[in-house]
Amino acid sequence: MFDLSNRTAIVTGAGRGIGRAIAAALVAHGARVALFDRDPTLLTDATETLGAITLSIVVDVADATNVQAAIETVIEQWGRIDILVNNAAILSTKPFLELTPSEWEQTLAVNLNALYYTCRAVVPTMIATGYGRLITIASVAGKRGGGILGNAAYSAAKAGTIGLTKALARELAPYGITANAICPGPVETPLLASMTAEQRTRAQRLIPLGRFAHPTEVAAAVVFLASAEAAFITGETLDVDGGITMD
Ligand SMILES: NC(=O)c1ccc[n+]([C@@H]2O[C@H](COP(=O)([O-])OP(=O)(O)OC[C@H]3O[C@@H](n4cnc5c(N)ncnc54)[C@H](O)[C@@H]3O)[C@@H](O)[C@H]2O)c1
Repeated sequence: MFDLSNRTAIVTGAGRGIGRAIAAALVAHGARVALFDRDPTLLTDATETLGAITLSIVVDVADATNVQAAIETVIEQWGRIDILVNNAAILSTKPFLELTPSEWEQTLAVNLNALYYTCRAVVPTMIATGYGRLITIASVAGKRGGGILGNAAYSAAKAGTIGLTKALARELAPYGITANAICPGPVETPLLASMTAEQRTRAQRLIPLGRFAHPTEVAAAVVFLASAEAAFITGETLDVDGGITMD
């Protein structure tokens, strides 16, 4: 089960955290993986760890031209893209009235517009091959309106990714392409570095399983949704949140 050999994948924000764990899990299941990240140092480190079946490209996912060029490079090298994992994001935590329009726009650009840019560039090749897995790393914030760490901008962007993923699922189903979102609760990554001990304790009280996730627990859900075995699942949002949501 979950054999991804002969599959090619792109993971955005693969330099560290959940993205790196996703890339490692896809490689472990046999896929060739292209790592996208805006930070060249993180990317070099991730590439050295993951080994020769990876391709790494410095790309700012909020830049449509940059994304198009990076995806064309992957298609030139590997001929097809079977799996696209939109994972890169930035956290925004300021209260609503302190948020400036440029911070709002930057959060929406990286966390939502990038999903449009990457899918726009990848979907034609998936249609041509008749196979595709679009996987969006959203957040419980997109369902709950924040309440743990992300603010209004982060929550709005993540809710937007869930809506866009469902629209893609509906429109692309006739081509053998599925689109699903994963909604993690708090996961132990550098993204949570700004959390105070009090915020961590408060967040843990909201989680029935009583702890934060490990990045590999999100990666396992990605491997499942990327696999042939998940062919009949589309437009789904899968909560990997220790029971926070239960909707
Ligand atoms: N950590 C959590 O608690 C948590 C909870 C829910 C959802 N998520 C989501 O999971 C995903 C990964 O989060 P993480 O905790 O691993 O974050 P992280 O900050 O540890 O890693 C994010 C990676 O994305 C890259 N990145 C950021 N902006 C980019 C851009 N414009 N272009 C290209 N790369 C960019 C960063 O360089 C970094 O390598 C995000 O979508 C995040 O919103 C995380």
